[in-house]
Amino acid sequence: MTDYSKIRIALDGPSGAGKSTIAKKIAEKIGLVYVDTGALYRSVGLYSIENGIDSEDTAGIIASLEKINIRLAYEDGCQKVYLNGSDVGNRIRTPQASKYASAVSKIPEVRAFLLQLQRDIAASGGVIMDGRDIGTVIMPDAELKVFMTATPEARAQRRCLELEEKGMPQPYEDVLRDIIERDRADREREASPCVPAEDAVQFVNDEYGIEESADYIIGLIK
Ligand code: DC
Repeated sequence: MTDYSKIRIALDGPSGAGKSTIAKKIAEKIGLVYVDTGALYRSVGLYSIENGIDSEDTAGIIASLEKINIRLAYEDGCQKVYLNGSDVGNRIRTPQASKYASAVSKIPEVRAFLLQLQRDIAASGGVIMDGRDIGTVIMPDAELKVFMTATPEARAQRRCLELEEKGMPQPYEDVLRDIIERDRADREREASPCVPAEDAVQFVNDEYGIEESADYIIGLIK
Protein backbone atom coordinates (compact mmCIF):
# COMPACT_ATOMS: atom_id res chain seq x y z
CA MET A 1 0.00 0.00 0.00
CA THR A 2 1.26 3.46 -0.88
CA ASP A 3 2.40 5.55 2.05
CA TYR A 4 0.57 8.86 2.12
CA SER A 5 1.73 9.85 5.58
CA LYS A 6 3.73 12.84 4.33
CA ILE A 7 1.57 14.07 1.46
CA ARG A 8 -0.18 17.44 1.65
CA ILE A 9 -3.19 18.09 -0.53
CA ALA A 10 -4.74 21.52 -0.98
CA LEU A 11 -8.38 21.46 -2.07
CA ASP A 12 -9.70 24.92 -2.86
CA GLY A 13 -12.78 26.25 -4.58
CA PRO A 14 -16.01 28.19 -4.05
CA SER A 15 -18.77 27.09 -1.70
CA GLY A 16 -21.16 24.44 -2.85
CA ALA A 17 -18.72 22.48 -5.00
CA GLY A 18 -18.82 19.63 -2.45
CA LYS A 19 -15.27 20.16 -1.15
CA SER A 20 -15.84 19.03 2.42
CA THR A 21 -17.89 15.93 1.56
CA ILE A 22 -15.40 14.88 -1.10
CA ALA A 23 -12.34 15.67 1.03
CA LYS A 24 -13.77 13.60 3.90
CA LYS A 25 -14.36 10.69 1.54
CA ILE A 26 -10.80 10.88 0.19
CA ALA A 27 -9.39 11.09 3.73
CA GLU A 28 -11.36 8.00 4.71
CA LYS A 29 -10.36 6.03 1.63
CA ILE A 30 -6.61 6.59 1.75
CA GLY A 31 -6.03 7.38 5.41
CA LEU A 32 -5.43 11.12 5.49
CA VAL A 33 -6.51 13.67 8.06
CA TYR A 34 -9.20 15.98 6.71
CA VAL A 35 -8.72 19.58 7.80
CA ASP A 36 -11.72 21.89 7.43
CA THR A 37 -10.31 25.43 7.48
CA GLY A 38 -13.72 27.07 7.00
CA ALA A 39 -14.47 25.92 10.57
CA LEU A 40 -11.72 28.24 11.83
CA TYR A 41 -13.26 31.33 10.20
CA ARG A 42 -16.65 30.18 11.44
CA SER A 43 -15.25 29.94 14.99
CA VAL A 44 -13.85 33.49 14.87
CA GLY A 45 -17.30 34.56 13.64
CA LEU A 46 -18.98 32.63 16.44
CA TYR A 47 -16.96 34.53 19.03
CA SER A 48 -18.37 37.79 17.62
CA ILE A 49 -21.92 36.44 17.62
CA GLU A 50 -21.66 35.25 21.21
CA ASN A 51 -20.05 38.48 22.38
CA GLY A 52 -22.37 40.92 20.62
CA ILE A 53 -19.87 42.18 18.03
CA ASP A 54 -21.53 43.26 14.79
CA SER A 55 -20.42 41.49 11.59
CA GLU A 56 -19.57 44.89 10.06
CA ASP A 57 -17.56 46.06 13.10
CA THR A 58 -14.11 45.40 11.64
CA ALA A 59 -12.24 47.13 14.48
CA GLY A 60 -14.24 45.18 17.08
CA ILE A 61 -13.54 41.90 15.31
CA ILE A 62 -9.81 42.67 15.08
CA ALA A 63 -9.72 43.61 18.79
CA SER A 64 -11.52 40.36 19.68
CA LEU A 65 -8.64 38.29 18.27
CA GLU A 66 -6.61 38.96 21.42
CA LYS A 67 -9.24 37.17 23.44
CA ILE A 68 -9.57 34.19 21.15
CA ASN A 69 -7.78 30.92 21.57
CA ILE A 70 -8.49 28.27 18.95
CA ARG A 71 -7.35 24.71 19.26
CA LEU A 72 -7.96 21.86 16.87
CA ALA A 73 -8.24 18.23 17.85
CA TYR A 74 -8.84 15.09 15.82
CA GLU A 75 -11.01 12.49 17.47
CA ASP A 76 -12.04 9.32 15.55
CA GLY A 77 -11.12 10.98 12.27
CA CYS A 78 -13.34 13.97 13.08
CA GLN A 79 -12.07 17.49 13.48
CA LYS A 80 -13.11 19.34 16.60
CA VAL A 81 -12.57 23.03 17.13
CA TYR A 82 -12.21 24.35 20.65
CA LEU A 83 -12.90 28.06 21.03
CA ASN A 84 -11.49 29.21 24.36
CA GLY A 85 -11.73 25.64 25.61
CA SER A 86 -15.28 24.92 24.46
CA ASP A 87 -16.15 22.61 21.56
CA VAL A 88 -17.93 24.76 18.94
CA GLY A 89 -19.92 21.77 17.59
CA ASN A 90 -22.85 22.76 15.42
CA ARG A 91 -22.92 26.32 16.70
CA ILE A 92 -20.69 27.21 13.73
CA ARG A 93 -23.14 25.73 11.19
CA THR A 94 -26.07 28.15 11.55
CA PRO A 95 -26.93 30.62 8.74
CA GLN A 96 -25.84 33.44 11.08
CA ALA A 97 -22.46 31.74 11.60
CA SER A 98 -22.07 31.45 7.79
CA LYS A 99 -22.73 35.17 7.43
CA TYR A 100 -20.22 36.03 10.15
CA ALA A 101 -17.62 33.63 8.74
CA SER A 102 -17.88 35.35 5.40
CA ALA A 103 -17.52 38.79 7.03
CA VAL A 104 -14.50 37.90 9.20
CA SER A 105 -12.72 36.07 6.38
CA LYS A 106 -12.40 39.35 4.46
CA ILE A 107 -10.29 40.91 7.22
CA PRO A 108 -6.53 40.51 6.64
CA GLU A 109 -5.82 40.52 10.42
CA VAL A 110 -8.15 37.55 10.87
CA ARG A 111 -6.45 35.68 8.04
CA ALA A 112 -3.03 36.43 9.55
CA PHE A 113 -4.29 35.26 12.96
CA LEU A 114 -5.29 31.86 11.53
CA LEU A 115 -2.30 31.41 9.23
CA GLN A 116 0.22 29.78 11.57
CA LEU A 117 -2.33 27.44 13.08
CA GLN A 118 -3.14 26.10 9.62
CA ARG A 119 0.54 25.81 8.67
CA ASP A 120 1.28 23.94 11.90
CA ILE A 121 -1.41 21.38 11.15
CA ALA A 122 -0.13 20.94 7.60
CA ALA A 123 3.50 20.62 8.64
CA SER A 124 3.44 16.96 9.61
CA GLY A 125 1.81 15.91 6.32
CA GLY A 126 -0.79 13.24 5.70
CA VAL A 127 -3.45 15.90 5.26
CA ILE A 128 -6.10 17.03 2.84
CA MET A 129 -7.02 20.59 3.67
CA ASP A 130 -9.99 22.38 2.16
CA GLY A 131 -10.54 26.11 1.92
CA ARG A 132 -10.10 29.04 -0.42
CA ASP A 133 -6.40 29.94 -0.18
CA ILE A 134 -4.78 26.66 0.81
CA GLY A 135 -2.83 26.22 -2.43
CA THR A 136 -2.03 29.92 -2.82
CA VAL A 137 -1.20 31.01 0.76
CA ILE A 138 -1.29 28.28 3.43
CA MET A 139 0.75 25.59 1.69
CA PRO A 140 1.98 26.88 -1.66
CA ASP A 141 4.40 23.94 -1.73
CA ALA A 142 1.71 21.25 -1.33
CA GLU A 143 2.37 18.07 -3.30
CA LEU A 144 -1.03 18.35 -4.98
CA LYS A 145 -3.34 21.32 -5.43
CA VAL A 146 -6.82 20.92 -6.76
CA PHE A 147 -9.18 23.80 -7.48
CA MET A 148 -12.58 22.19 -7.55
CA THR A 149 -15.70 23.90 -8.72
CA ALA A 150 -18.98 23.32 -10.50
CA THR A 151 -20.99 25.79 -12.55
CA PRO A 152 -23.20 28.11 -10.46
CA GLU A 153 -26.24 26.38 -11.99
CA ALA A 154 -25.10 22.91 -10.91
CA ARG A 155 -24.27 24.17 -7.41
CA ALA A 156 -27.63 25.94 -7.15
CA GLN A 157 -29.44 22.74 -8.14
CA ARG A 158 -27.55 20.72 -5.51
CA ARG A 159 -28.19 23.36 -2.86
CA CYS A 160 -31.93 23.44 -3.68
CA LEU A 161 -32.12 19.67 -3.24
CA GLU A 162 -30.29 19.89 0.08
CA LEU A 163 -32.62 22.64 1.34
CA GLU A 164 -35.65 20.65 0.23
CA GLU A 165 -34.41 17.60 2.11
CA LYS A 166 -33.99 19.75 5.21
CA GLY A 167 -37.60 20.93 4.82
CA MET A 168 -36.51 24.50 3.97
CA PRO A 169 -37.15 24.81 0.20
CA GLN A 170 -36.03 27.99 -1.56
CA PRO A 171 -36.70 29.19 -5.12
CA TYR A 172 -33.95 28.12 -7.53
CA GLU A 173 -33.54 31.69 -8.86
CA ASP A 174 -32.82 33.05 -5.36
CA VAL A 175 -30.31 30.32 -4.58
CA LEU A 176 -28.55 30.86 -7.91
CA ARG A 177 -28.38 34.63 -7.37
CA ASP A 178 -26.85 34.13 -3.90
CA ILE A 179 -24.23 31.76 -5.25
CA ILE A 180 -23.22 34.13 -8.05
CA GLU A 181 -22.98 37.01 -5.60
CA ARG A 182 -20.94 35.03 -3.05
CA ASP A 183 -18.57 33.81 -5.80
CA ARG A 184 -17.99 37.37 -6.87
CA ALA A 185 -17.28 38.54 -3.31
CA ASP A 186 -14.87 35.62 -2.69
CA ARG A 187 -13.04 36.11 -5.98
CA GLU A 188 -12.74 39.87 -5.79
CA ARG A 189 -11.87 40.36 -2.12
CA GLU A 190 -8.42 41.79 -1.56
CA ALA A 191 -7.24 39.42 1.17
CA SER A 192 -6.53 35.96 -0.24
CA PRO A 193 -9.17 35.85 -2.97
CA CYS A 194 -10.56 32.48 -3.94
CA VAL A 195 -8.60 31.88 -7.14
CA PRO A 196 -6.74 28.80 -8.39
CA ALA A 197 -2.99 28.55 -7.75
CA GLU A 198 -1.01 28.65 -10.98
CA ASP A 199 -0.07 25.00 -10.64
CA ALA A 200 -3.46 23.75 -9.43
CA VAL A 201 -5.37 21.07 -11.30
CA GLN A 202 -8.74 22.60 -12.13
CA PHE A 203 -11.62 20.20 -11.76
CA VAL A 204 -15.19 21.10 -12.75
CA ASN A 205 -17.35 18.38 -11.26
CA ASP A 206 -20.83 19.12 -12.73
CA GLU A 207 -21.05 15.64 -14.20
CA TYR A 208 -19.51 13.82 -11.24
CA GLY A 209 -21.09 12.37 -8.12
CA ILE A 210 -19.33 12.41 -4.74
CA GLU A 211 -17.77 8.99 -5.12
CA GLU A 212 -16.60 9.72 -8.69
CA SER A 213 -15.13 13.08 -7.67
CA ALA A 214 -13.26 11.46 -4.78
CA ASP A 215 -11.92 8.71 -7.05
CA TYR A 216 -10.84 11.26 -9.66
CA ILE A 217 -8.78 13.16 -7.06
CA ILE A 218 -7.37 9.93 -5.61
CA GLY A 219 -6.24 9.16 -9.17
CA LEU A 220 -4.39 12.49 -9.21
CA ILE A 221 -2.82 11.73 -5.82
CA LYS A 222 -1.58 8.39 -7.05
O1 DC B 1 -16.03 26.49 3.65
P1 DC B 1 -16.96 27.22 4.59
O2 DC B 1 -18.31 27.54 4.02
O3 DC B 1 -17.09 26.54 5.94
O4 DC B 1 -16.23 28.61 4.86
C1 DC B 1 -16.78 29.58 5.71
C2 DC B 1 -16.33 30.95 5.27
O5 DC B 1 -14.93 31.13 5.45
C3 DC B 1 -16.62 31.28 3.80
O6 DC B 1 -17.23 32.55 3.74
C4 DC B 1 -15.27 31.33 3.13
C5 DC B 1 -14.30 31.55 4.25
N1 DC B 1 -13.05 30.79 4.10
C6 DC B 1 -11.95 31.45 3.67
O7 DC B 1 -12.02 32.65 3.36
N2 DC B 1 -10.75 30.80 3.57
C7 DC B 1 -10.67 29.50 3.87
N3 DC B 1 -9.49 28.87 3.78
C8 DC B 1 -11.81 28.79 4.30
C9 DC B 1 -13.00 29.47 4.41
